[in-house]
Amino acid sequence: MRAHADKAAARVAVAPMMDWTDRHCRYFMRLISPSALLYTEMVTAAAIVHGDAERFLRYNDEEHPVALQLGGSDPDWMAKATSIASSFGYDEININVGCPSDRVQSGQFGACLMANPELVATCFKAMQAETDIPVTVKSRIGIDEQDSEEFLRAFVEPLINAGCRKFIVHARIAILEGLSPKENRTIPPLNYERVYALKRDFSELEVVINGGFTDLTGIDEALRNVDGVMIGRQAYHQPYFLAELEAHLNGEWSPAPRAAVVERMLPYIDREIANGASLNSISRHMLGLFAGQPGARAWRRYISEHAHRPGAGSEVLVNALNAMPHAA
Ligand SMILES: Cc1cc2nc3c(=O)[nH]c(=O)nc-3n(C[C@H](O)[C@H](O)[C@H](O)COP(=O)(O)O)c2cc1C
Repeated sequence: MRAHADKAAARVAVAPMMDWTDRHCRYFMRLISPSALLYTEMVTAAAIVHGDAERFLRYNDEEHPVALQLGGSDPDWMAKATSIASSFGYDEININVGCPSDRVQSGQFGACLMANPELVATCFKAMQAETDIPVTVKSRIGIDEQDSEEFLRAFVEPLINAGCRKFIVHARIAILEGLSPKENRTIPPLNYERVYALKRDFSELEVVINGGFTDLTGIDEALRNVDGVMIGRQAYHQPYFLAELEAHLNGEWSPAPRAAVVERMLPYIDREIANGASLNSISRHMLGLFAGQPGARAWRRYISEHAHRPGAGSEVLVNALNAMPHAA
């Protein structure tokens, strides 16, 4: 079991997604997929160094393997944040060099750092000196008019020289001005070939491709060219896809049915609510569980109408299951 988890973890990851991949979401996804590497939302180094580190870094043991994504570009802060975070037991620490939002650019981190690979390499070195767990980089293939194999190579080379061995690459450029973060995830075209070329050029690296993966065939094709695939929106909107993918990659494993996943969430929800969480903060991540199945609309609707009510508890999910037409 553990051997399988280790093997498959290298191949499938769930992307860091602000406001989405919080610890409740990751707990839920872990019940669906025993081995995918789960990334946190981005946390800024400043929030960890100067803020309430415990609030930003705590997670459930069941989430392993779990990677923390850090945002920042001050090597001292990134190193301090890494030191604090590694004491929490994360399995990987990842530097965000892919996020194009204005807020992120004004802090000089995210995708704009692709123009400054030496600074990213300095951050990497300072961070890796603080921990034994791997420090990795998530980037785009380029920024603005910098859209070439040469640019991507010039970005990774200083990092490779600094010792970085794992790159996650969102296979489209980021346009730093004029597009919203959302548009930056759809408008620049995907270019998987650019990422495959990176792996061919630097075969010793672990290269994980990201962007637009929604079906098993596309993932099979990617895994013939690179080491792993990171899945974002599809994993969030249709989380059970992760179970299908896990079963596809490991024929010996069979997924728990969707209703069993709900049952297994109930004790977690009870515990979290007893500790002050709201049902809605957890159940909002579960809305897509039955996507594409009979009763999916009834499931979503029941939860949307009931989960935010004062005093709502895990019984809402049991009732939502019963409200599905096929439940009778
Ligand atoms: C709601 C949302 C929030 C995101 N937040 C982050 C983030 O914090 N850090 C990051 O590196 N990428 C972030 N991304 C980008 C994803 O990690 C991923 O690169 C992108 O969605 C492309 O993958 P996909 O096509 O499989 O969704 C976010 C994406 C979405 C949809």
